[in-house]
Amino acid sequence: MASKREQLDELNKYWQENCQCELRKTAKQAVFGDGNAEAEIVFIGEAPGKNEDAGGKPFIGAAGKFLNEMLEGIGRKREDIYITNIVKYRPPNNRDPEPKEKEDCNEWLINELKIINPKLIVFLGRHSMTRFFPTEKISEIHGKLLLKNIPELEKKQAFLPLYHPAAALYNGGMRETLIKDFNKIPKALEKLS
Ligand code: URA
Repeated sequence: MASKREQLDELNKYWQENCQCELRKTAKQAVFGDGNAEAEIVFIGEAPGKNEDAGGKPFIGAAGKFLNEMLEGIGRKREDIYITNIVKYRPPNNRDPEPKEKEDCNEWLINELKIINPKLIVFLGRHSMTRFFPTEKISEIHGKLLLKNIPELEKKQAFLPLYHPAAALYNGGMRETLIKDFNKIPKALEKLS
């Protein structure tokens, strides 16, 4: 049986060749999920930005630095977690990804999640939240531990929605809320054990 890392490498190789997302035409490269294939937490962001498009890894710009600081605050490192995006290619000028682009990258994401099979999925912002909770508002459910049966994942999955670190970076109130919500991760994991 191939390891989770090997399965992810195989998955990325397949989708890099077969993803039909139109953003491939304007992006420099696909930005694969990154981190520990055995992680118990998976973070899901929106889409790569300029730094990620150039560097080929998710969350390596200012939002990523802020995320690393928050991880340190709960005694974890980037190497302990896995992080990916709803859309694997940078939208031009960092515009929001469109529904069709999300749809075209969806199977890639779902298979990533099935391989890792995390205890907890943390949404970074509304784009990843609405993939699994289409009628909810991030302003109403941020910081709440949610359990939902996800047929595609073939399991009851735990989720923690958070504000996006890029949105919270320069917004004092939202930043404070995000840090407070982020600090709930260890307790949430304990609860799920
Ligand atoms: N914002 C995201 O949502 N994803 C990244 O990879 C970087 C910034």
